[in-house]
Amino acid sequence: MSFYVTTPIYYVNAQPHIGHAYSTIVADTISRFKKLCGEDSRFQTGTDEHGDKVYEAAEKAGVSPKEYADSISQMFRDAWPPLTIEPDNFIRTTDAEHIKTVQDILQKVYDKGDIYLDDYSGLYCKGCERFLTEKELVGGDCPDHQKPPTLITEQNYFFRMSRYQEQLINHIKSNPEYITPERYRNEVLSFLKEPLEDLCISRPTSRLTWGIPLPFDDKFVTYVWFDALINYLTGIGYPDGPDFARYWDVAEHIIAKDILKPHAIYWPTMLMAAGVAPYKKLHVHGYWNINEAKMSKSIGNVVRPGELVDNYGVDAVRYFILREMSFGLDASFSTDALINRQNSDLANDLGNLFSRSLTMINKFGDGCIPEPSLTESEEEIDLELVQLISDMLDEYTDEMNAFAFNKALQAVWKVVRFANKYIVENAPWELAKEQDKKQRLQTVLYNLAETLRVITLVLQPVMPETSGKMAAALGCEIVPKLQEQGKWGLLKPGGKINLGPALFPRLDKKALEANQEKSQKTVSANPADTQDQITFEDFKKMDLRVAEILSAEKINKSDRLLKLVVNAPEERTIVAGIAEHYSPEDLIGKQVIIVANLKPAKLMGVTSHGMVLAAKDRKKFVVATVSDEVKTGSKVS
Ligand code: MSP
Repeated sequence: MSFYVTTPIYYVNAQPHIGHAYSTIVADTISRFKKLCGEDSRFQTGTDEHGDKVYEAAEKAGVSPKEYADSISQMFRDAWPPLTIEPDNFIRTTDAEHIKTVQDILQKVYDKGDIYLDDYSGLYCKGCERFLTEKELVGGDCPDHQKPPTLITEQNYFFRMSRYQEQLINHIKSNPEYITPERYRNEVLSFLKEPLEDLCISRPTSRLTWGIPLPFDDKFVTYVWFDALINYLTGIGYPDGPDFARYWDVAEHIIAKDILKPHAIYWPTMLMAAGVAPYKKLHVHGYWNINEAKMSKSIGNVVRPGELVDNYGVDAVRYFILREMSFGLDASFSTDALINRQNSDLANDLGNLFSRSLTMINKFGDGCIPEPSLTESEEEIDLELVQLISDMLDEYTDEMNAFAFNKALQAVWKVVRFANKYIVENAPWELAKEQDKKQRLQTVLYNLAETLRVITLVLQPVMPETSGKMAAALGCEIVPKLQEQGKWGLLKPGGKINLGPALFPRLDKKALEANQEKSQKTVSANPADTQDQITFEDFKKMDLRVAEILSAEKINKSDRLLKLVVNAPEERTIVAGIAEHYSPEDLIGKQVIIVANLKPAKLMGVTSHGMVLAAKDRKKFVVATVSDEVKTGSKVS
């Protein structure tokens, strides 16, 4: 059986945070689970790189949109391996194949008569990159961005979405699991009770050039959503690649509730118009809030997954977010809750079971998996353990298939806790004291090892690293086909075990808090600044120097960029986005501060070897200088 899971492709106007990490960990986990069950699974993620938002962010950063997209897209790509997220494909909407696929589909839908040119006046929200209806506004503002939209009138191309409304309603009604959980299906159906408006799918190049040109009118680029959604097809080689035939019918998309409408309404109707079968399922999850507040850069509470992994380890993070959120509902993130889970579920329950069992096998079983005695395994508590594991496998499989990761993990932890109780009730250290209890001791130890083997299997999709450590310690392999491998009694007696370090350390909350407080006090007095803190070691990596500007000239076709040649003390070229604030002649002879070890970048055809620092407020923009003349090339520290 095949399976194809996707995450949203993330905008490259912000760096990855815990919300992006959640969708991507869910996709990685479900893909690993399907593989564990012996299925052929493909998992795709990537970045969404066109549109106003990215264009503006690039302008602000003083680089071209492509360069900007390259750098943030790379940050997303780099964010996943430390979280043991292993996508089979990472797609970018600036990839040549994607541009071609989007244009092919546009042409197809246009030829069919489902795209037409018309005048349009509407309330446009830049943050959402779409026109909003009056109904969507709250107090005149966009509810997501808390800003009033702008009234825009222009000619544009429209997609006849309305034509597919009935067909979409019928599809959702006759496929109860098309959109899950049910609350989101209901939300979509209730939205579809009102007549659907056609969708504006172009932007005039006079307003935006950073997009895919319409194949039938080069005065327009494609609206970013019409472009982005098609990534799910491009990534598997639509229309005639073998992977398309293999994976499209089984495509399952994972998104959060913020992008329900484009996925549940635009996308299926686009597919209908293009003559492509609908995707199989849409899984919609809730939002992560931080200590009950919405995560936002301005509040300064953005949680970066990389920092969490550094502080707590990858599997504590994966386990926590899958165990803590009930898929479909919002959840609250706090390091307190993470530490509690690590201490109770991971260090106390799982970690203890593992280390106690292995230590006892080492001590009382000569470091080898003991031989159980069949007659002895008739003990009631053994039967209960075996039954519990078999029930757990069924429950775990059902809950994983239903994306109820928290419930799947609860089912596993029932076994973990029971096995800890099993140790206490059987007291192997007492059995070891009596010669005639040797057989029983062997059986108890075998049962513990076998329980751990099954736990190792089911934890693999959620905590691949821990599961790998457990398998290595038990000397067993993780083989796909969970239903067969989960059967009791497959662990071979006689195999050597390998004692290793504890799986999870217990965290001392007080010490961690004290540490955190200390670093906050020394680095920043303002809590809002702590989100992107760097260490002194990081700061030391920057090569800041005083440079003298030798020459300055405007760069052809750019209103913002100046080409500067500076002495620092060697001669180098720097491209600076300051042309709107300084004329070239005002700059010559000025001492400015530069970042000398910035990776060279090409801007409008000129390679820049560094960056000039500047400060701005709402009225002024000034380059940073020194208060008295110093030797050029002096270090700034
Ligand atoms: N580029 C579009 C998606 C196009 S898909 C064809 C986009 N990008 S985004 O960068 O804004 O990512 C939105 C997605 O990131 C959400 O749907 C969700 O998967 C994830 N999350 C972002 N913030 C989140 C939380 N605070 N909580 C949970 N997930 C969140 O929209």
